Amino acid sequence: MSEQGLSNLMSEERHFDPPADLARDANVTAAAYEEAAADRLAFWSKQAERITWAEPYEQVLDWSNPPFAKWFVGGKLNVAYNCVDRHVEDGKGDKVAFHWVGEPADDTRTITYADLLDSVSRAANALIELGVEEGDRVAIYLPMIPETVIAMLACARIGAPHTVVFGGFSADALASRIDDCDAKIVITSDGGYRRGAPSALKPAVDEAVARSPRVRNVVVVRRTGQDVEWTDKDVWWHEIVDRQSAEHTPKAFDAEHPLYVMYTSGTTGKPKGILHTSGGYLVQSAWTHWSVFDLKAESDIYWCSADIGWVTGHSYIVYGPLANGATSVMYEGTPDTPHKGRWWEIIQDYKVSIFYTAPTAIRTFMKWGDEIPAEFDLSSVRVLGSVGEPINPEAYIWYRENIGGDNVPVVDTWWQTETGAIMISPLPGVTSAKPGSAMTALPGIGADVVDDAGNSVPNGSGGYLVLTEPWPSMLRTLWGDDQRFIDTYWSRFAGKYFAGDGAKRDDDGDIWLLGRVDDVMNVSGHRLSTTEIESALVSHDKVAEAAVVGATDATTGQAVVAFVILTEAAGDGGPDVVAELRAHVAKEIGAIAKPRSIMVVSELPKTRSGKIMRRLLRDVAEKREVGDVTTLADSTVMDAIKTGIGSSD
Ligand code: WTA
Repeated sequence: MSEQGLSNLMSEERHFDPPADLARDANVTAAAYEEAAADRLAFWSKQAERITWAEPYEQVLDWSNPPFAKWFVGGKLNVAYNCVDRHVEDGKGDKVAFHWVGEPADDTRTITYADLLDSVSRAANALIELGVEEGDRVAIYLPMIPETVIAMLACARIGAPHTVVFGGFSADALASRIDDCDAKIVITSDGGYRRGAPSALKPAVDEAVARSPRVRNVVVVRRTGQDVEWTDKDVWWHEIVDRQSAEHTPKAFDAEHPLYVMYTSGTTGKPKGILHTSGGYLVQSAWTHWSVFDLKAESDIYWCSADIGWVTGHSYIVYGPLANGATSVMYEGTPDTPHKGRWWEIIQDYKVSIFYTAPTAIRTFMKWGDEIPAEFDLSSVRVLGSVGEPINPEAYIWYRENIGGDNVPVVDTWWQTETGAIMISPLPGVTSAKPGSAMTALPGIGADVVDDAGNSVPNGSGGYLVLTEPWPSMLRTLWGDDQRFIDTYWSRFAGKYFAGDGAKRDDDGDIWLLGRVDDVMNVSGHRLSTTEIESALVSHDKVAEAAVVGATDATTGQAVVAFVILTEAAGDGGPDVVAELRAHVAKEIGAIAKPRSIMVVSELPKTRSGKIMRRLLRDVAEKREVGDVTTLADSTVMDAIKTGIGSSD
């Protein structure tokens, strides 16, 4: 963000107090901050009472070998039991866990906790029949259907860590994730619905599995009924799951037993496998879901619009809400199918009271116009949440006014795949929230903004966001790469977790997130690595060199802009070279990584040590005056780029 934009932000003086009735009945009061400050570990130990432990833990935190944390040491639990069985045992079997809304009109399913227990037990038995053992990895590549949740919980139930790969990723991306964690089984479907039409998923799995001979079986959910190729590794979900017994006794696993691996983009090309374990993860995802959204499990209808393929879906569609016994809405499709008011219609029809979405979606709705949500009765909404990127004050206010009737709190929640759960956020019954600020660290969380030397900056200054204390749902390592875990997060500032985000503290000490400080872009709330897209581009035979930057975009936050030098043999690349390269990136990584624009250039700006100066390219991409070029090896390069690109954007 530019300094100008930043000072505009920091002069934002509006703030919104919690509504009086919400504050009066809030799950959490200001006392929680004091309680946690007095004894952080006692605070987390108290939150751990939300979970049913098969065996109690002996120690809240073992931090004797930093940065490798162990939480709730010696405790044993079954995560699926906590999310499903115990609610049924408590007499809540008939309570709805999910109101599932398919994309085709009237394609809905109501799933109670008793239904979940039945299906999760059968799916667990099916995985066991397929030879999945405790500790084996299972890859899940599915659309937003109930079987995705069932498959995840079945894995958790038998202690097989899952790795859910977003359905928008390509066969290549899927294959590299399957390989990296050595998944034995892949669970997928024939396809899913997207914008009114079936869209195939299985071909990507076929391609990925052909390259990963260690995958033993592919379990295929029939969702769309479209034709699929069949191999001898394939098994229909309904054929293997439906005939299983609905009885399965969950085993208790160690609090530190791996629950899942979620891949996310890092600063290098290779995605990082973020490892989350069981006890601490469940405690913090459940506690934050209850406190940050003020969840009243008996009466609220909760909806998080994220895809389960991202961490937000893991923590706030599956584990947090189910551990809390909540009733959720889950929606399969896109917001504009069959019309641009579909989300608001769902809120109206199901009387959604807590809604959690991303700024990129909010900005899209702003563009579509206020009259669309105005057609629906949204009076059931009492708490709104935002996640994924900084929410600009305009979007915050629009969201509050048009979806929240100007009288509900908006919680801007900062966290990451790595943190597993919300870390910095207002509390809806406590905080007087400022539009655009994630405000303060939650009780029990230590966050700070530091300068280059790692010293805490005074109020009114900016720097790097760090986390100063271990937290229950923290990543435990990167799958198979402890050294990269140490290097990436714990080496920049001694003893502190480096989040990779810039931040500023205002005069009141409240935190404003300013975006990534590394080569990671945030496009529509999705993390993409510049290096990964550059590698995809240079893997095309017409490309000699590529540089990718994230340019500010009014709707998606950032957009991918690529600069490429073509190979001699490619000549001028031909008339369709840009389209060809965009399609190539989609094939290599996935449609979300497709550059918004590709500029063909003859040279790239480099320092004398050969490092590409992305800052200058960002200036070009954002159509700004190009900044300081004095460190360039050849300072005329930028002129050549500016004059050369007029025709190729
Ligand atoms: C960004 C998503 C500002 C940030 C849960 C972080 C945010 C990255 C916010 C993590 C927010 C997420 N305000 N920035 N409220 N929430 N971010 O791993 O840059 O997909 O580092 O996790 O998103 O993205 P990830």
